Amino acid sequence: MANILLKSKVTNSTNVLVITENFKNEFNLPDKVNDYIVNELSQKDKKTLTYNYIGKYISIFIVEKGKEISVLNEQLRRHGSIVADSVNLNKGKDLYIYNQTKQQSLSLFAAEGMVLSNYQFIKHKPTAEKNKNTLQSIIIANSNIKQSQVDELNIVCSATILARDLVNEPVNYLNATDLSNAFKAMGKLSGFKVDVLNRKKIKELKMGGLLAVNAGSVDEPTFSVMEYKPNKPKNKKPYILIGKGVVYDTGGLSLKPTLASMDLMKCDMAGAAAVGCAMYAIAKAKLNIHVIALVPATDNRPGFNAFAPGDIITMMDGSTVEMLNSDAEGRMILADALHYAKRFNPELVIDIATLTGAAMAAIGTFGMVGMGNISNNQKNKLHQSGINVYERIAEFPFWDEYDELMKSDIADQKNIGGALGGSITAGKFLAKFTNFPYYHIDIAGPAFLSSKDSYRGKGGTGYGVRFFFDFFKNL
Ligand code: BES
Ligand code: MN
Ligand code: ZN
Repeated sequence: MANILLKSKVTNSTNVLVITENFKNEFNLPDKVNDYIVNELSQKDKKTLTYNYIGKYISIFIVEKGKEISVLNEQLRRHGSIVADSVNLNKGKDLYIYNQTKQQSLSLFAAEGMVLSNYQFIKHKPTAEKNKNTLQSIIIANSNIKQSQVDELNIVCSATILARDLVNEPVNYLNATDLSNAFKAMGKLSGFKVDVLNRKKIKELKMGGLLAVNAGSVDEPTFSVMEYKPNKPKNKKPYILIGKGVVYDTGGLSLKPTLASMDLMKCDMAGAAAVGCAMYAIAKAKLNIHVIALVPATDNRPGFNAFAPGDIITMMDGSTVEMLNSDAEGRMILADALHYAKRFNPELVIDIATLTGAAMAAIGTFGMVGMGNISNNQKNKLHQSGINVYERIAEFPFWDEYDELMKSDIADQKNIGGALGGSITAGKFLAKFTNFPYYHIDIAGPAFLSSKDSYRGKGGTGYGVRFFFDFFKNL
């Protein structure tokens, strides 16, 4: 990962991003170059200007007055992405940020966009070595930003990148056991506890949903319990994060088609990656909050004993589910995790999952779908974090009427609703397994992109990591 650094009294530099309202030459630019830039900026109604001359790349970002701060911050992340990509094209190693405005924190958002845009997943492509990004250091020059702010940003970016790596890793390199091992390694590095339940333990606990989804697989399921508990945490009752850890979703016997569907399904553990890597960031930054994360993990395959559409499954909480579609597997494993969460008497439980195509159909890839039974105060905080990191929540209704759609004639619930409101009926199914304040987040849209979207990149985006970190930081 490119590293973000602070330096004071810098006057000479190679690649430069200037954030400014009124351009000043503070980097020893020759008069001619300076005159050209000043002239260009004064003539046109330009908001960005790029200037390239021997050994130097200069990008100028003009801050418009009166812009909504979250929108401006996102503009800077996106502009940072463009600048970092250009520097890599020129094989540059360093990139300096000069911020000539009073809003010094804008530099951090630009740096964030640069680091995240610099990410590549090329470990399985030896021939890509020559196209490896060269950018190594992002230097915030001459600012009054604190070292602690930079440290925190480096932590959050590295956690996001870790999540992308996990999501991009295919199932033949990352099965449920590998995923749990990755959590153990992250726990050791950052200081949270990881307990992994194996098949035997999962059977003892009667996690019927997780076992049903795992029935068609040759690999073991796992259930990871992660806990970060500082000495004197702010909260009495723990916050719980639950991530969907379907390491691969073929659909099971209700098999998915390959094209633009099953071929993307290595991403079906993006929720798990989000909560595990959020834990990593929270522990590494030593936030003073008691958080527990739960990840039920398995692949979903149509192997010999795969559960058949129509099967009736007894869940860990003792309720029954008529499983009419084996491709609605996420809710089966999450349901057992939600029931497991009851033992902790939680303050709030949030699950995050690539749960339904319906969520993606509704809002596309530009945000996440959210719904649940929580106070307006809690809801506002979640939405605010979504806006802060620009992983915004589109709030869906959670009306009682949707419950009707999940009723079965022969079991307590069905695992599919009808053709309508698919992401809400999934959330409603899950809410049946809760007795605590509960919020459900569906990231089927933004978790994995088939083309690059600025600093979010192509492939796994790491969605949810920055969001959860921001939420806990501001509690
Ligand atoms: N993992 C999929 C949802 C998904 C779709 C994630 C697209 C990412 C991108 C989930 O397990 C699934 O297959 N859901 C079904 C549910 C249906 C059978 C009720 C769906 O959305 O079609
Ligand atoms: Mn599925
Ligand atoms: Zn799935």
